[in-house]
Amino acid sequence: MLKVGFVGWRGMVGSVLMQRMLADNDYEGLEPVFFSTSQAGQPGPDIGREVPALADAKDINALAEMDVIVTCQGGDYTGEVYQPLRDSGWNGYWIDAASKLRMADDATIVLDPVNRDVIDAELEKGTKTFCGGNCTVSLMLMGLGGLFERDLIEWMSAMTYQAASGSGAQHMRELLNQMGALHAAVKPQLDTPSSAILDIDRDVTATMRGADFPVEQFGYPLAGSALPWIDSPMESGQSKEEWKAGAESNKILGRQDHPIPMDGLCVRIGSMRCHAQAFTIKLKRDIPTAEIEQMLADHNEWVKVVPNDKDATLEHLTAAAVSGTLTVPVGRIRKLAMGGEYLTAYTVGDQLLWGAAEPLKRMLAIIRG
Ligand code: HSE
Repeated sequence: MLKVGFVGWRGMVGSVLMQRMLADNDYEGLEPVFFSTSQAGQPGPDIGREVPALADAKDINALAEMDVIVTCQGGDYTGEVYQPLRDSGWNGYWIDAASKLRMADDATIVLDPVNRDVIDAELEKGTKTFCGGNCTVSLMLMGLGGLFERDLIEWMSAMTYQAASGSGAQHMRELLNQMGALHAAVKPQLDTPSSAILDIDRDVTATMRGADFPVEQFGYPLAGSALPWIDSPMESGQSKEEWKAGAESNKILGRQDHPIPMDGLCVRIGSMRCHAQAFTIKLKRDIPTAEIEQMLADHNEWVKVVPNDKDATLEHLTAAAVSGTLTVPVGRIRKLAMGGEYLTAYTVGDQLLWGAAEPLKRMLAIIRG
């Protein structure tokens, strides 16, 4: 039986992975071993059957007993453990949610509804290291897979609206605390119908700028605002999140030698766990919109084309509609005023599911066959 070690299963992405594996009975036929960086020896999690006590996630010998290791522990852990484990002679499969190894030559970024051919070719070649992609990248490719599959995109820009969860669990809590602080600051005026909205707004702004406003995690107010910088700066002037769009997408698609230019601006907004993005796409040729919609809809079973009308858009193309689901709606599909080769579209998806846990879960399923 395949011995699979899970590391970082208690964190946010790891917990979503556990939920999804339980929901689909994925532990069946596996011998799961749960690792911990701090609680080795304690009982393992409840997955409906006996599991051994927690193993030490820093113990190279214990890790080396696994056929597969799935880690959601983060980049620092990967940095500390991966190379010593490989250097010890371990030749198992490493499946990683972190970005640390994504761009390494011997690692493949997994998103099987989009790049199953690349994954299969790498498995055939003996590749043993597989990483989940950046969440905006994976959600973009799930939504627009039908156009990439037919190589119809000359270049593309993605403007993102990214959720607090992309920064972590503490950031989600801080977003809610910020929202609560703003509401609390003006509650008496809100309860008084005759109060002036500009007075309320002034007090909200003062609260947001005040020394007591909770900004420990984000560093700045997000509730009632937006933060147009995600991740570290690059020499190019891009944020790292913006750089990933082109770098990771082309790697996922296996076209690093003839990349599609992809770039844009990444913005944090006050959504909980769904990333949205607005695209400007230069097509290689003028294709009727109805054909484009069909190509997008046919690509995978999770993408859903939303007709470009107001009610359908506002009902289906929002974080409120898709949070906690695997559905990736894509809508606002229309030609831009620049001409028939210029297309716009908008998509939204749960960044903890297709953006993080789901591709890892599916890669484990591919390995076990
Ligand atoms: N970098 C993403 C974000 C999260 O900050 O939203 C995960 O890929």
